[in-house]
Amino acid sequence: MDLMEAIKGRRSIRKYKPDPVPEEVFSTLMEAVKWSPSWANTQCWEVIAVRDPKLKSELAAALPKGNPALSSMTDAPLVIVLCGKKGVSGFKKGEATTAKGDWLMFDTGLAMQTLCLTAHTLGLGTVIVGNFDHHRVAEILGVPQNIEVVAITPLGYPAVEGMVPKRKEVSEFVFSEHYGKKG
Ligand SMILES: Cc1cc2nc3c(=O)[nH]c(=O)nc-3n(C[C@H](O)[C@H](O)[C@H](O)COP(=O)(O)O)c2cc1C
Repeated sequence: MDLMEAIKGRRSIRKYKPDPVPEEVFSTLMEAVKWSPSWANTQCWEVIAVRDPKLKSELAAALPKGNPALSSMTDAPLVIVLCGKKGVSGFKKGEATTAKGDWLMFDTGLAMQTLCLTAHTLGLGTVIVGNFDHHRVAEILGVPQNIEVVAITPLGYPAVEGMVPKRKEVSEFVFSEHYGKKG
């Protein structure tokens, strides 16, 4: 699968087969995450792999009832909780380098995209889940104060094909020379 095919073909998957993710496949995914770009190569990401059904149920309970990814948290054999170390990305000698402050959301986002695309090329499904009670998840998994819980994805073999949500046209988000100016 070439890169464009992977980018266009990856879909959010919300229904999973119970088949486990082989350890070597999991290792390949983590190797891919390892090579994600990050601010000054700070690599603030940390990954918690959750396989215990009881813990997965507790995580599912941290999602609001209407979250369409809720059942995938317990269906999928593996749930990945992506965290970021605070005060590292975007910082030099303890001081924020830019007005944006901590770039951990950006760097963990890149790591998540690497994970999702690589998973897709290996026949696995993912869905990035951001709408949940982050404090509750931190408590369930014993995440310390200096580490931010950012996002979750179930990981496993898709039970259904994801539907293809419509995208904006390129011309709607590309400007030329100045903001708002169409080429
Ligand atoms: C930061 C972020 C948070 C998201 N949170 C959720 C979520 O809480 N629940 C869910 O079902 N999908 C969630 N999604 C998945 C998006 O709904 C999905 O990516 C979007 O509709 C496009 O569909 P596609 O991934 O199949 O291309 C999230 C995606 C991102 C990038």
